Amino acid sequence: MKITVIGLGYVGAVAAGGLAYAGHEVIGVDIDCHRVQALSSGSVPIYEPGLEPRVAAGISNGNLRFVHVDEFSEHIGDIALIATGTPPRESGAADLSQVKVALDWIKSRSHDNLVVLMKSTVPPGTGCRILGEDLRGTDIRYASNPEFLREGRAVQDWNSPDRIVIGAEPGDHKTVEAVKKMHTGISAPFVVTDITSAEMTKYASNAFLATRISFINEIAALCDRVGASIDAVSEGLALDPRTGSRIYAGVGYGGSCFPKDVRALDYLALTSGVNFELLRSVINVNNKQRLLPLYALRSRFGGAISGLKVGVLGLAFKPETDDVRDAPSLDLIRALVDEGVEVQAFDPRATRTAARELPPSAQILDDPVEASAGTHALVLLTEWEQIVNSDWTEIARCMRPPRFVFDGRNCLSPQTMEMIGFEYHSVGRNNRPLPFV
Ligand SMILES: NC(=O)c1ccc[n+]([C@@H]2O[C@H](COP(=O)([O-])OP(=O)(O)OC[C@H]3O[C@@H](n4cnc5c(N)ncnc54)[C@H](O)[C@@H]3O)[C@@H](O)[C@H]2O)c1
Repeated sequence: MKITVIGLGYVGAVAAGGLAYAGHEVIGVDIDCHRVQALSSGSVPIYEPGLEPRVAAGISNGNLRFVHVDEFSEHIGDIALIATGTPPRESGAADLSQVKVALDWIKSRSHDNLVVLMKSTVPPGTGCRILGEDLRGTDIRYASNPEFLREGRAVQDWNSPDRIVIGAEPGDHKTVEAVKKMHTGISAPFVVTDITSAEMTKYASNAFLATRISFINEIAALCDRVGASIDAVSEGLALDPRTGSRIYAGVGYGGSCFPKDVRALDYLALTSGVNFELLRSVINVNNKQRLLPLYALRSRFGGAISGLKVGVLGLAFKPETDDVRDAPSLDLIRALVDEGVEVQAFDPRATRTAARELPPSAQILDDPVEASAGTHALVLLTEWEQIVNSDWTEIARCMRPPRFVFDGRNCLSPQTMEMIGFEYHSVGRNNRPLPFV
């Protein structure tokens, strides 16, 4: 098939690489000329393991090309796949302006038999509105095909997704078959449904996972109060298939999807007359969770943290990505800097992306030991292998007392850290029982 991928970010670049790898003829277009230039030369401007060789292979076997939107002058192909961003508006609603511009661009190049495939996450009801308004009077067919890949594992997830959801108009078998054909070679269960249900499946997935994360974080807070260990509790929970796979307590969810999609669903609920109280609690718990290290520092250092030197290990919202969009590190570092803390940070991959977002006074250093030098406290926010397997003895040596460590991802051993000489705290496994009143 010939496929044009519109938008070459974390999703679009992976989709373009994956589709070319499957043997399709793929053209990736973007409005960002630097991105197009980089990709055309085989260099991927984001960090996503395994993507660069895949893109390079696609270019060299002729299956994959990249063109700036304004320079595109050919047949758009069988499928126009939209993977532009849908960032949050102030209200929490999804901003669909990039999608609208992409749709206009497609319409101006449309031809018979074209399918517009929506990979971008758009609120339930959007596809039907697009069909009734934007695509009205055209021959263009439309399907929703939400993307579930996880950054850091996106290439693997593209190859072996848990499921492929296709939303199409009732009876539009031709479009469903075209989308199935696009996935030739990928073995996963198909869920074929109407457009709005497909859109809702994406939001429900993210909102449910966010709910589980906030739930385990609330249980962790209670564990700290009563002297239970969240490690044992989550292990025990995970053995019951009804409650889902293991989930870890920590400083909350972040990234470019969860926070914005949960807020967009909340906004949709509000504007649809549904009071989704549970979702609002999920958001509130997560907002508080992201600042746990700040509360811990205030409590350890007697309220006044101004003048402290604090190392922050991990800036990306999770390991194996350079994405810092809505990462807990940004909220925390901004709050620390506001309170007069001197911040030294480290991340193996997110230096460039984080530097654009952080206050200029926050220093970003080249390795965990450097970021720890002279600090009173460390906060671990991303469980990168390079951070977990740091030389902790050397880190302890170059820190100042009390060598306070807040492990926001519960990824270090409390016993080992205490043995080395740290004052170690984590989330829900401190096992300090309160006396019963
Ligand atoms: N990042 C993820 O892990 C992930 C996972 C699943 C779904 N999604 C959803 O996929 C969509 C894309 O996410 P992303 O993280 O790849 O976004 P992104 O911001 O990384 O990439 C969007 C790209 O679209 C380009 N663009 C914007 N307007 C354009 C236009 N009119 N024509 C051509 N290109 C245009 C931008 O320049 C950018 O390169 C979003 O709706 C997101 O919610 C993302």
